[in-house]
Amino acid sequence: MDGKRMGLILSLCAVAFAMASGSAAYPSGFGFDSGVCGAETVEGGGGGDGRRRIMDISHAIREDMLSWDSAEGLGSFLWLALSMRNGSLANSSVMKLPTHTGTHVDSPAHVFQEYHDAGYDVDTLDLHTLNGPALLVDVPRDKNITAMVMESLSIPKGVKRVLFRTLNTDRNLMLKREFDTSYVGFMKDGAQWLDIIVVEGLKLDNVKPGLYSLHCLHLRLIGAEGSPIRCILIE
Ligand SMILES: *[C@@H]1O[C@H](CO)[C@@H](O)[C@H](O)[C@H]1NC(C)=O
Ligand SMILES: *[C@@H]1O[C@H](CO)[C@@H](O)[C@H](O)[C@H]1NC(C)=O
Ligand SMILES: *[C@@H]1O[C@H](CO)[C@@H](O)[C@H](O)[C@H]1NC(C)=O
Repeated sequence: MDGKRMGLILSLCAVAFAMASGSAAYPSGFGFDSGVCGAETVEGGGGGDGRRRIMDISHAIREDMLSWDSAEGLGSFLWLALSMRNGSLANSSVMKLPTHTGTHVDSPAHVFQEYHDAGYDVDTLDLHTLNGPALLVDVPRDKNITAMVMESLSIPKGVKRVLFRTLNTDRNLMLKREFDTSYVGFMKDGAQWLDIIVVEGLKLDNVKPGLYSLHCLHLRLIGAEGSPIRCILIE
């Protein structure tokens, strides 16, 4: 990992999301929540009684979202390739974006040549890895995640999925256009505590530490070492 800290850039909602705020696109009655900034709570499914709270912990992908090592941010990523206004049967957009944009998963092929050579793309990830009980923990804000920090968290034995909320959330790093290299991440000895599949850039403001049911689904991109991922927590 040659000094590269693994991200897990977590964030705090402070500005209106371009997509979510376009609530006119979703007339009431369609069952869509208009994405109130902060809570991002969707009362999904359940049909009335016994509804469980669903928390959206993925970031909306926007043009002014940060992009790895860039000061300019993501930029244009969506084009209307076919448009009804121009005589096409339907509107249809084309998108182009780095596979490690926003909330995303890394396959082992992202940083390990041997896994790359063995074909471990995102499509080989076992769905059980990122779906099941998960513990959300707050890490100390004054250091990167070392082995000592990992020890201090006293994560109970048997816990297989952990979400780490860090200073990055307090600093709103995911909502800044410019990539901030001072982000908090795992130091090598902290990472060696774990043998992990990494999801980076979760949106964990307004979620309390504790145990949840985690559901993360990425795209089946053959040959890709990363993919945008949609993650939700259910209480
Ligand atoms: C429609 O076609 C015009 C003329 O070719 C072009 O300038 C415009 O960008 C197109 N608009 C869309 C939405 O495709
Ligand atoms: C199709 O795209 C055009 C151009 O952006 C837009 O004006 C129009 O409202 C869209 N139509 C539908 C049905 O979404
Ligand atoms: C984490 O490490 C980065 C890179 O060395 C550094 O810029 C940052 O200040 C560290 N964060 C904390 C909270 O110590």
